[in-house]
Amino acid sequence: MTSTTPFPPGFLWGGATAANQIEGAYDQGGKGLSIQDVMPKGIAAPPTQEPTPDNLKLEAIDFYHRYADDIALFAEMGFKVFRFSIAWSRIFPLGDEAEPNEEGLAFYDRVLDELEKHGIEPLITLSHYETPLHLARTYDGWRSRKLIGFYEKYVRTVLERYGSRVTYWLTFNEINSVLHAPLLSGGIATPPEELSKGELYQAAHYELVASAAATRIAHEINPDIKVGCMLIAIPVYPLTPDPADALAVQAAQHDNYFFGDIHTRGAYPGYALRFLREQGIELDITDEDRETFTHSVDFVSFSYYMSVCQTGDPAKQAAGEGNILGGVPNPHLPASQWGWQIDPVGLRIIANDFWDRWRKPLFVVENGLGARDELVEVDGVRTVLDDYRIDYLNDHLVQLGEAIEDGVEVLGYTTWGPIDLVSASTAQMSKRYGFIYVDRHDDGSGSLERYRKKSFDWYAQVIASNGASL
Ligand code: BG6
Repeated sequence: MTSTTPFPPGFLWGGATAANQIEGAYDQGGKGLSIQDVMPKGIAAPPTQEPTPDNLKLEAIDFYHRYADDIALFAEMGFKVFRFSIAWSRIFPLGDEAEPNEEGLAFYDRVLDELEKHGIEPLITLSHYETPLHLARTYDGWRSRKLIGFYEKYVRTVLERYGSRVTYWLTFNEINSVLHAPLLSGGIATPPEELSKGELYQAAHYELVASAAATRIAHEINPDIKVGCMLIAIPVYPLTPDPADALAVQAAQHDNYFFGDIHTRGAYPGYALRFLREQGIELDITDEDRETFTHSVDFVSFSYYMSVCQTGDPAKQAAGEGNILGGVPNPHLPASQWGWQIDPVGLRIIANDFWDRWRKPLFVVENGLGARDELVEVDGVRTVLDDYRIDYLNDHLVQLGEAIEDGVEVLGYTTWGPIDLVSASTAQMSKRYGFIYVDRHDDGSGSLERYRKKSFDWYAQVIASNGASL
């Protein structure tokens, strides 16, 4: 153990979740259905008509009833921050009604009370892959401009309610994924194969306007609030030194960077306008949209799991596993049990890139290893010996420390799924990320009991030493 640490004092260590992956209680407390309630296989299969018993998210890990105990476990690890999302359909069950659901609002009051009790800072995602189902079915989600108004109303409602006690807010989870996972990310009910590129970029535009509007509303309500955008960060490397590969890298990066450019600089960058023009895409952009864009974010947050390669050679364009943004596998990197390529150095690279490009403080709001865990008994105590998870997180944090040494400003780091939860892409329980094991399985069986894994103590030590124990 070294005694020095690159992590600044006050660094926000913690964990991140999403309502639909932990809460359960899908039809309690006045909640309406969300798209997730009809996605029993995640994005691996089309949605169902009605909620079906094989959908693990309907009960998830029952955080709705167990939040106080779970937050106490986070506090035991020394969490400084806890990222969670508000289920939009708990507040506006349909999404387009006039009045919010008080019972839904009261639930998050209680969650915030609990966090406050333990001195844990909340970090709230306003929309995390859980658009109200009614908005998806009636308006085709973010393909409709009307969603901006519904979202603004929802945002104003929760900001007025919690804005005096919550400093950090995120507008849309992984906003750049709307181009790749239209239902999950954009609440778009039309099957992906029936959507044109123009329709996807239009949906992205409406979300970007709504995101900037959320920033405006938050600052109106409380100027001390810090609003962040949230991006999937996937560093892209050229498969070979061929300039055609480097150009393919740049094109792939542009398709993601324009989301951050708009959020931080308040306008479409030239390369994006050229792309749209050359694709024959004419977006519905109003002067009011342009004005709204000027409300830029206070910080940039992102998820980081993997990097990919790109090539200009169509013959080599094999897609990697599990990566919704596409890309070619990297021959130099190992992969997780789900085929996600593991690249700690990529975190240092992308953090430097984002900082150099946008000069906004960064927040790593997701990073972690989804793995199959085995519950064992050690000295009469049930646990998981998850050294593989400790190694993964340790290596990534060392690289984040390197980025900080490089001069990158980083506000905090929240691991994905500090407690086991239902996975987003495959809707499985067996893809576990947590420091805390939850006894629930892919067939829905299990007691929902919680057990501390080996990584639980490891993370507690990292936090207590502010990263010096890495
Ligand atoms: C991110 C999402 O893309 O990755 C989370 O924001 C998700 O919701 C996480 O859970 C990990 O992906 P998965 O598919 O392993 O759950």
